[in-house]
Amino acid sequence: MAKTKVKFICQSCGYESAKWMGKCPGCGQWNSMVEEKIKTNKTNRGVFQHSDNIKLSKPTSIMTIETKEEPRINTTINELNRVLGGGIVNGSLVLIGGDPGIGKSTLLLQACARLSETEKKVLYVSGEESVKQTKLRANRLSIATKNLFILAETDLENITKVIHEMNPDFIVIDSIQTIYHNQVTSAPGSVSQVRECTGELMRIAKTNGVPIFIVGHVTKEGSIAGPRLLEHMVDTVLYFEGERHHTFRILRAVKNRFGSTNEMGIFEMKETGLEEVLNPSEIFLEERSQGAAGSAVVASMEGTRPVLVEIQALIAPTSYGNPRRMATGLDHNRVSLLMAVLEKRVGLLLQNQDAYLKVAGGVKLDEPAVDLAVAISIASSFKDLPTRSTDVFFGEVGLTGEIRRVSRVEQRVQEAVKLGFKRIILPKANIGGWTKPAEVEVIGVVNISEALSHALGG
Ligand code: TYD
Ligand code: MG
Repeated sequence: MAKTKVKFICQSCGYESAKWMGKCPGCGQWNSMVEEKIKTNKTNRGVFQHSDNIKLSKPTSIMTIETKEEPRINTTINELNRVLGGGIVNGSLVLIGGDPGIGKSTLLLQACARLSETEKKVLYVSGEESVKQTKLRANRLSIATKNLFILAETDLENITKVIHEMNPDFIVIDSIQTIYHNQVTSAPGSVSQVRECTGELMRIAKTNGVPIFIVGHVTKEGSIAGPRLLEHMVDTVLYFEGERHHTFRILRAVKNRFGSTNEMGIFEMKETGLEEVLNPSEIFLEERSQGAAGSAVVASMEGTRPVLVEIQALIAPTSYGNPRRMATGLDHNRVSLLMAVLEKRVGLLLQNQDAYLKVAGGVKLDEPAVDLAVAISIASSFKDLPTRSTDVFFGEVGLTGEIRRVSRVEQRVQEAVKLGFKRIILPKANIGGWTKPAEVEVIGVVNISEALSHALGG
């Protein structure tokens, strides 16, 4: 017997309660509890048709479980493969989030097209656009393959039927917020809808061994709309980000059960769709104004790939009581810490200065190895002395002003050499143990004042 129950569910964290509350006890958000009707069917909750083939699972000794190297499906888009950890794993559920208009549908349609060219049957379910609209987009992307099927549908039961009939090798659901489960009475996009639909899609992915990509919208606060719990349910969470007014888009993994979360994929949005960026360092350094104070280039590792990025700082006397500290693409606290180190260990009087920091190209850097370049860009702007345009810096800065060792030195150095940099300032502890290319001068430094005297000449 189906019974209708009313619950109040927090739309941001999924906390459930029998009564309404102004503040969610789960996440502390105000005014986020919304009444949702939930029809519960005790014997067969939220599942469409597998009551007659329930198998009892048994525990297995870990020694007898057979494993093979997970075969991966090659999307032929290298930047996407890398972020996924080497390709798509069969039976995985992948969530791809991002602001509206950033290019999620475009990326997935392109991936679908590439896959369908390799004789795979691909189903693209669009709950947002009609079949015609999707076709228009496909024309723009010059997609013409007969194995790509478009379905404009929002009822999950119908989608499930189509999947059973068609048996596709790859499925895209665009987007989870538009799909509804007819056993849940609340509106599409609400926590219970999103949870039930994702649960059902997970079951389809696991039982059929077919990979499913789900598109999810992002709220103003930057998390995937609806519940955080969506992120817990899926195998992989990817974020597609970038400034809408810039053409670069960055794809990064924030959770991945089948690979590392450090990797990033870089794309450029063109008239004819997204194009892979194979030489990110060149692009990020393209617009650098050479010889300007407040700029330093860092060799940062993004996953397994070294990327050279420019860090810019602007230090200016503060006009109000409290100096401002702003950082785009860098951790705000890290910047404050480095300014304190510069103040205490090098004697730069920064306490009455505003500081604005920016990573060029819209990249986010969270590696400790960027510390040295950040500190140098701050000092360079403060003293109004430019760094040499052929210098690269990396190293972690400690609280006593010491420069600490970082990983993967050789790769960072090679990338710098490839781009024609002449001098590399790095932690002294990192000298040795690798072969130094002949074209560059490598300077090992012990502390921040030594690094500054090399970089700014005094
Ligand atoms: P879209 O994939 O619809 O974004 P999302 O699904 O994340 O909401 O991307 C839409 C934007 O991309 C739109 O502003 C137009 C732009 N675009 C191009 O610049 N070139 C193209 O070939 C396509 C298809 C879209
Ligand atoms: Mg879209």
